[in-house]
Amino acid sequence: MSISFDLINSLDNFVTKAAQSVDEFGQEFDPQTRSADERFGDFQANGVLPFAKKMGKNPRELAQKLIDALPASEDWSVKIAGPGFINFTLSPEYLLKWICTHGSTDNLKASAKDKENSKVVIDYSSPNTAKQMHVGHIRSTIIGESLARILAFQGNEILRDNHLGDWGTQFGILLFAIKEQGISLDDLGDDPIARLEDLYRQGNARIKEDENALVGARQELVKLQDGDEENLKLWEKIRDISMSSFLKIYDLLDVHFDHSLGESFYRDKVDGIYEELGKHKICQEDDGALVVFHPEHKRFAKQPFIIRKSDGASNYATTDLATLGYREKEWQAEQIIYVTDGRQRDHFEQLFLTAKKWFIAEERKLPTLAHVWFGTILGDDNKAIKTRDGQPVKLIDLLEEAIRRAADMVRQKNANLSDEEVQRRAKVIGLGAVKYADLSQDRTLDYVFSWDKMLAMQGNTAPYLQYAVARISSIFRKMERSSDGPFNEARPPQSDAERKLSRKLLFFPIALKQATRELKPHFLCTYLYELATDFSSFYNLEKVMVDDPEVRDLRLLLCSSTQSVLQTGLSLLGIETLEEM
Ligand code: ARG
Repeated sequence: MSISFDLINSLDNFVTKAAQSVDEFGQEFDPQTRSADERFGDFQANGVLPFAKKMGKNPRELAQKLIDALPASEDWSVKIAGPGFINFTLSPEYLLKWICTHGSTDNLKASAKDKENSKVVIDYSSPNTAKQMHVGHIRSTIIGESLARILAFQGNEILRDNHLGDWGTQFGILLFAIKEQGISLDDLGDDPIARLEDLYRQGNARIKEDENALVGARQELVKLQDGDEENLKLWEKIRDISMSSFLKIYDLLDVHFDHSLGESFYRDKVDGIYEELGKHKICQEDDGALVVFHPEHKRFAKQPFIIRKSDGASNYATTDLATLGYREKEWQAEQIIYVTDGRQRDHFEQLFLTAKKWFIAEERKLPTLAHVWFGTILGDDNKAIKTRDGQPVKLIDLLEEAIRRAADMVRQKNANLSDEEVQRRAKVIGLGAVKYADLSQDRTLDYVFSWDKMLAMQGNTAPYLQYAVARISSIFRKMERSSDGPFNEARPPQSDAERKLSRKLLFFPIALKQATRELKPHFLCTYLYELATDFSSFYNLEKVMVDDPEVRDLRLLLCSSTQSVLQTGLSLLGIETLEEM
C-alpha cells in the first residue's frame, strides 16, 4: 500500500475490496473503519458486527472470512477481537514511513488537499452596523474563520462574506435621533461608534414614550428606503464609522473578508423574490403580509416564514433569500455555511425549506446549505455574560483585557523582555486563549467564560499547546539542529512512548475530517490536546540527546513532526505560536 495520508479512507477501501470477493458480503458492506484504542491496535473495522446481525450470520465467522480474503501486507498485522471486530496494528516501519512522508508542515499542507473540492461561501461575523460588536459576535467570527481555514486547507475555494446587518428599522430610529438632537456625524468624539450606539438607545427610548417620535422614526426610514439623498449620506457615514470599528477587531483577530456586502446590497433584489415565489405559488398573502408555510413540517405548517411585512417592507427573510440566490447565480456557490447563534435555528430551517422549493421550481441547482449554530457565552452566574452594570460586554474591551492579562503572564516569566516583545507575545497568547476557549467546546453548548481557565498553562488550553510548540523549539535550539531535519538516520519507533506518539501523529487527518464533516472545530482541538499530552509523556520518558544517531534522529523527527502538526492545527484555529514563551 502506498503511504496514504488518510489511513481510515484507504483501509476502508482495502477492506471493502476484500469483502467484494467474499460471497457473503456482496456490495453493500460498510467496513466502518475508525481509529482504535491502543490496547487493541491502531485501526479497527467495526462493520462486520451490524452486517452479520442484519444477515442473521455469525459475526466471528464472517470476520474470519474477511480476514482470509485480505491480501497479506508487511505494513500491518490484523486480528479478530471480541465478537467480530477486525483490528489492524501498523508496523513500526510503516509508522516511520508515514511520518517521513507527511509529517512536515509543507507535506501536511500538500497531503491534505482533497481532489473533491468545492466553492464554499462562509457567511460569518455579520454584525449589525451602528452598534458595537459585543461578545455575542465573537463566536460567529472565531468559528466561521476557523471553518474557513479548515475547508481552505483541504483545497476548497472559500469566499468569506460578512453579511452585515446594515439595512433595517434601526436606521429610522438612529436618523431620527441624530436629526432631533442636531448632531453632526463628523463630530462624534473619540469613540464614534459608542456615541452612535448611545444615540440609538436614546432614540429607542424616545419612540417608546412619544407617538410623534415613533412616526418621525418611521418617516426617516421610509425616506432612506426611497433614496432620500440626505438620509443616504448619513447612512453611508454610519456604515463607514461602524466598519472602521469592526476592522479594528478583525485586524486583532486576523480575520479578513472577501466581501462585506451586507443586507443593504440586496435591497433592490427583493422584488424578484416576491415575483418568483409568487409565480410558483410558494408564498401566499396572510393578513396583508406575504408568507410561506411548509405543510409537510410539524411546526412550519402553521408558523409562517414572513417574507414581506404587512406594511410592504422587506425583512431579514427576504434579504436572506435574495442573498442565497445571488451567491448561487453570481458566485456559483456550491456550498453555503451560515454561522450564527442557535436562536436563529428556526429562521434558517425555514429559509432552507423555502429555498429548496424555489430552486426546484426554477430548475436551479441548490447549493448545499448548512446552518452552523452555537450556544451562549455565560458569565460566572451561568447567565449570558454581561458587564457589572448589566450591559453586553464590548468585544474590543474583552480582547484588550485578554492581551493585558497575557502581558502580565509574560512579564512574570521573563523580567528582562522589552515592552515590544512582551506585547508581541501577549497578543499571541491572549488572543489565542480567547479563540481556543471558544473553539474547544462543542459549539452547540453554552460555556462559562473564565480568564483563569483559558489562560492556564495546564489543561486543554491554547497556552498549553503553544507551550508545547515553544518547548520543542527550545529542544532544537539546545541541540543546535534544525527542526526541518534531515533525520536520515531515524530507525522505526520501538518503545511504548515512541509508538504512542507516532500513531497519534497519524490520526491528524482523522481529526481534520471529523471537524470538517460536522463543521465543528472542537474535534481538532481535542486531538491537538491529546497530541500535546502524548508528546509530554514521550518527552518525560525518552531522552532525545542520546549518542545513538538512529535513536536520536527518530526522537528528533517525532519532536519536529509533533511541532508541525501542532502549529498546523493551531493555525487552522486561527491561533499563532511562539518560539519562546
Ligand atoms: N446580522 C445578523 C445578526 O447580528 C446575523 C446575520 C447572519 N447571516 C445571515 N445571512 N442571516 O444576528
